[in-house]
Amino acid sequence: MSERNIDPSTHGITKMPRHVAIIMDGNGRWARQRGWLRLKGHQEGARAVKRTLELSYKLGVRHLTLFAFSAQNWSRPKPEVQGLMALLGEYLRTEQAELMRRGIRFRTIGDVTKLPENLQREILDLQQRTASNDRMDLIVALSYGGREDLVHAARAVAADAIAGRIKVEDIDIEAISARLYTADIPDPDLMIRTSGEMRISNFMLWQLAYSELYITEVLWPDFSEDDYIDALRVFGGRERRFGLTGEQVGGGGERER
Ligand code: IPE
Ligand code: IPE
Ligand code: MG
Repeated sequence: MSERNIDPSTHGITKMPRHVAIIMDGNGRWARQRGWLRLKGHQEGARAVKRTLELSYKLGVRHLTLFAFSAQNWSRPKPEVQGLMALLGEYLRTEQAELMRRGIRFRTIGDVTKLPENLQREILDLQQRTASNDRMDLIVALSYGGREDLVHAARAVAADAIAGRIKVEDIDIEAISARLYTADIPDPDLMIRTSGEMRISNFMLWQLAYSELYITEVLWPDFSEDDYIDALRVFGGRERRFGLTGEQVGGGGERER
């Protein structure tokens, strides 16, 4: 058996999501609970990233998106922002061999032009090196916001309309989807948020339209393999209806009397 294959069913997972997206939240609280600097929480969070990526790969998740830094997170105190950027650089350097070994393609969503130049170069380099890897996608959301994503797409579609490449009446869901940062990535099937907040915080507003949401109280640095498996098990038990009835999608549904 290749190391890729952990059979999900041996963990009670009845159905696997193709695309898992995670709002990795709670690093600051994790550190505060221990009387430590927030940055220590982010460092420990990076270990949770490694665990999650590895298990995703082994279980056969095709796309994993991690919300690492939002467009709004730039307004945090400067030392925290700088610390996060340094940590990101370190992550890119230390994970490169692992991504190559496993055949994982690295990409980002968000406005990476806002990142420090050295980091932009490292991102581009890792993207190019892993471009032909085809076993899994690791998508890191950096300087990303769902509203910003939509603005970016709106500008692109407007530019295409003005240039005569698309007619206004041809602007439809596909036309917008194709101009988002996630253009060639299917929408998330499962969105996990750690640390208990019941909100989306400007993550993938368009793409989460029919994603199953799973929110756990566990803080991101504590998010373990078992916590991840719990989320996947819950996902397996959900009936996705996409606006149809339970009968139409072939699930149990509530029977009409
Ligand atoms: C998530 O943890 C990481 C980033 C947003 C970069 P937080 O830093 O938001 O942690 P809390 O929410 O303050 O606990
Ligand atoms: C969302 O978490 C962003 C990331 C996890 C990168 P935040 O901590 O920034 O969200 P709010 O402020 O609690 O809504
Ligand atoms: Mg937070």
